[in-house]
Amino acid sequence: MLISQSKNNKSTKIAAQRSWLFLAAAVMCLLTVLQLGVFPCAMAQTVRLPLKKVYLKDHKEDIESGIETIEERHGRGLAEINVTVTNKYDLQYHASLLIGDAKYNQTFIWDTGSTLLWTPLNNCSSCPSTNKYTPASSYSSTGTRHIINYLSGQVVGDVANDKVYITSSSGPVTMELLGVDTADSAIQGMVADGILGMGPAITGGRPGTLLVEKLKTAGIIGKNAFGVDYRWLNGTSSILLGGYDTDLIKSDEDFDWIGLKTNTHWTVEMSTVKYGGTELSMSSTSAVLDTGTSLTIFPYSDFMNIWNEIKDGKNCGYIVGTSRLGCDCDSIKDFKEIKIKLGEHDTKMPASAYVEYFAGTTSNGVCLLYIDFYIGDFGGLVILGDSFLREYYVYHDVQGQRVGLYGKNYSANTSAFSVLVFIMLFISFHF
Ligand SMILES: *[C@@H]1O[C@H](CO)[C@@H](O)[C@H](O)[C@H]1NC(C)=O
Ligand SMILES: *[C@@H]1O[C@H](CO)[C@@H](O)[C@H](O)[C@H]1NC(C)=O
Ligand SMILES: *[C@@H]1O[C@H](CO)[C@@H](O)[C@H](O)[C@H]1NC(C)=O
Ligand SMILES: *[C@@H]1O[C@H](CO)[C@@H](O)[C@H](O)[C@H]1NC(C)=O
Ligand SMILES: *[C@@H]1O[C@H](CO)[C@@H](O)[C@H](O)[C@H]1NC(C)=O
Ligand SMILES: *[C@@H]1O[C@H](CO)[C@@H](O)[C@H](O)[C@H]1NC(C)=O
Repeated sequence: MLISQSKNNKSTKIAAQRSWLFLAAAVMCLLTVLQLGVFPCAMAQTVRLPLKKVYLKDHKEDIESGIETIEERHGRGLAEINVTVTNKYDLQYHASLLIGDAKYNQTFIWDTGSTLLWTPLNNCSSCPSTNKYTPASSYSSTGTRHIINYLSGQVVGDVANDKVYITSSSGPVTMELLGVDTADSAIQGMVADGILGMGPAITGGRPGTLLVEKLKTAGIIGKNAFGVDYRWLNGTSSILLGGYDTDLIKSDEDFDWIGLKTNTHWTVEMSTVKYGGTELSMSSTSAVLDTGTSLTIFPYSDFMNIWNEIKDGKNCGYIVGTSRLGCDCDSIKDFKEIKIKLGEHDTKMPASAYVEYFAGTTSNGVCLLYIDFYIGDFGGLVILGDSFLREYYVYHDVQGQRVGLYGKNYSANTSAFSVLVFIMLFISFHF
């Protein structure tokens, strides 16, 4: 309210600040009186006047020279927080948060496929992380046990409330989270300490707090929304809380908007899937946008339709010693674009989005696939994981319960980092 870009409001602004000084002086006087018993409050008057004079005299020219907007002072503005995300092997993305009064720094996979924040506690001997949280005084357990089941394993702990800071200088928000004391061996490949759920809504009576909604209510960010910009290893990945990257996307109209089909996840309507020009028969009618899943995964029967096209004329299967699918190949040009229609919009995964070339030590290369399948009935959902999401800037409008997709047309043809890292593959989502 005190800050205005209009020069006409300058005097209003100064007057407002002046009255704050008067108020501050009055409060100081009151405090002094309370602390010291009797104290001449006229003293405060003499303190107040020089303050006022100093302000006007020393800063007159600054004020005349114009008013600094919030954006000028804070870069992109107070209304947004840009979180830099670390990319591990193109398979896991994580960013830090500060937990509790002690502002304990831990890393989390920012998982749009779940809704609860969990942190490994110091009494969790089965947790993969060595950076465990010793509950600060701000931590308060509700005593309720809760289990989160991910496709790749489960974690168990008490539901608790604690403070969470996005940066060391922004104020805390209190979140309902899970203090994990037990984790099963299946999540041992996780490179982050914990997981932060970034789903669109908390449904089914599950515990949890929506981080961006809380930040918006606290006035820390301006919009109940966030943008995800995930890149390959040679780029910089980031999440923008409270808005989208206006350097990349000029206005709302530039997004392909898709309303959520259901809000248990970021779930949208899916219709046709094409490999090159060939339309494939799919039983799935929904797709979920999920940063917590490394690959793009299809139910088994749907995947087989794609797989048959891919392996036509090639030698494809599991890469020996890993759980990753691949093909003998010389170039990713041997693969065709996969088109997936989401809502009313065609989206695409060019070969460079789902194939990575690994030269290996023999003369023939191997092409590793960033698409896979799952066995089990999760309602016939296609999980659009990091390999899909790298192609798009994804704006998650929590308030409007819709997503905006913006194609980055990213023409990566990166070389695989190492075959060994695939042991680290982590797929997380829960239903
Ligand atoms: C681990 O520590 C938390 C917080 O101090 C406590 O609530 C929980 O009961 C402990 N779990 C076990 C298994 O001791
Ligand atoms: C956590 O620590 C890392 C490494 O020192 C630092 O880069 C990061 O900014 C810290 N996180 C926060 C939220 O302050
Ligand atoms: C966020 O920060 C990263 C790293 O500094 C930068 O590359 C990116 O452009 C920033 N994004 C926005 C929207 O400011
Ligand atoms: C990547 O591109 C270069 C030239 O643009 C090409 O020579 C190379 O074969 C490509 N790699 C793959 C794996 O397609
Ligand atoms: C990506 O390509 C499509 C057409 O294929 C185009 O409409 C869109 O503007 C492009 N986006 C960028 C960021 O270049
Ligand atoms: C990442 O590498 C690909 C080719 O492998 C290239 O097209 C792209 O521009 C690179 N991005 C950056 C940020 O260097």
